[in-house]
Amino acid sequence: MSSEPVVLRCCSASSCRSAGGERLRRALLAARVNGEAGEAAVLIRSVGCLKLCGRGPMVARDGPCGTELYGGLGSEQAADLLAGRQAPLEPHRIDLDPPCSQLQEP
Ligand code: FES
Repeated sequence: MSSEPVVLRCCSASSCRSAGGERLRRALLAARVNGEAGEAAVLIRSVGCLKLCGRGPMVARDGPCGTELYGGLGSEQAADLLAGRQAPLEPHRIDLDPPCSQLQEP
């Protein structure tokens, strides 16, 4: 197991706040207190705009596999996000890798 903590960066800028970002952040804090993170060390931070305002509330999850971005999460997903359960979060995951067609030379 990695000794590096997982860091959840919760956007606290206006669009995400109005979309429920603060409610989600509080749900994450409550889930951590309730032990939903298991053995993993998870830090929860409020950060500025993550530049995908229309998809909020936005959370970046920095873990052993790199950074993953999630949007449109509700407080009901807090425990899954904290524990890093991929399957239930998949509909909210934002893939930033460009499609192959954008990588081809003209
Ligand atoms: S306001 Fe949250 S991503 Fe911009």
